[in-house]
Amino acid sequence: MKRNIRSYCSRWAERIPALLLGLALFVGPAGCAPARGKEPDTLRLGVAVYRQDDTFIASVTQELERLVRDAEAAQGRKINISVVDGANNQTTQMEQVDRFLSRGYDILLVNIVDRTAAAVLIDKAEAAGVPVIFFNRQPVAEDIDYRDQVYYVGARAEESGALQGQLVLDVWLDERLALDQNGDGVLQYVMLEGEPGHQDSLLRTEWSVKTLTDAGVEVEKLASDAANWNRGQAAAKMSQWLREFGDSIEVVFSNNDDMALGAIDAIQAAGGPSPLVVGVDGTAPALEAVASGELYGTVLNNGKGMAQAMLDLALALAAGEDPGRTVDLQDGHYVWLPYQKIDYTNLEQFLPQGGR
Ligand code: BGC
Ligand code: CA
Repeated sequence: MKRNIRSYCSRWAERIPALLLGLALFVGPAGCAPARGKEPDTLRLGVAVYRQDDTFIASVTQELERLVRDAEAAQGRKINISVVDGANNQTTQMEQVDRFLSRGYDILLVNIVDRTAAAVLIDKAEAAGVPVIFFNRQPVAEDIDYRDQVYYVGARAEESGALQGQLVLDVWLDERLALDQNGDGVLQYVMLEGEPGHQDSLLRTEWSVKTLTDAGVEVEKLASDAANWNRGQAAAKMSQWLREFGDSIEVVFSNNDDMALGAIDAIQAAGGPSPLVVGVDGTAPALEAVASGELYGTVLNNGKGMAQAMLDLALALAAGEDPGRTVDLQDGHYVWLPYQKIDYTNLEQFLPQGGR
């Protein structure tokens, strides 16, 4: 299609006497516009996110935009990146993807709203010959594993759960009395879950507790409920639990940092004793809360690494190169970024350069 337009333009140009050529290119027929607008070798990346107001997702897209600017300078070519907000609606996101495809975007980077809707999206992209890189919200394996030009960049959810469990286990082993406030030898906890159905909610919930029970710690779940990754919803849930269980709550496991900060908001508003709170992500406000001692610890969800891997993958695919030569591609389709535990002992290395 693109090739046809180009050859039409050059045939048209050949018929114009040389002296008129400059003018002809300027006012040339519709379809020859690239001479003025988009450079022919501009790379267009269409990024569709499930919600732009999600703290972690916003940090990934900001980093991606920054890396794209660096890559443009380094490669001496224009790279357009367009980030669109699906507002948590799969129909909206599908329309956004349709728009990217009809406008000739070269690569799609998709943080899919509904993980089960990937097949339809992949079919559309495949028909247009456009590779898709999913990130953070993992489609089911059947949709990724048997398709060409389809990739997933993310982190293994069970690993974050296990590391969060270890943060708590370390305290249980070293300072049990500080944790087991009622001294019954059992760890009473509440769990703030992310969105139902998200791989990170399901697996973090399971593995944080499993890490403790596998180590022989007896636990008691006082309450567990979804707060959809959201600080306000988590604060409301936690206020309710504080009214219900008071100082019986010894630990608050939160599937992400925003909800952990919401729990802390509620704890501070209630003004009673503080249970140990742990999150996942390592967002900037969470690191500040670790520094001030309000948040015991978190687990780094390496958004910067994800952005870098996505860009490397996109550049390799756009150049028609084997992406396995640029990124650590596993099973032909997956790039996995490792999680890392963060608490006050190693916080310094995760703070923005120059420290606090
Ligand atoms: C992050 C959450 C985020 C969610 C969005 C998770 O990996 O930990 O903070 O809200 O992804 O999909
Ligand atoms: Ca106890």
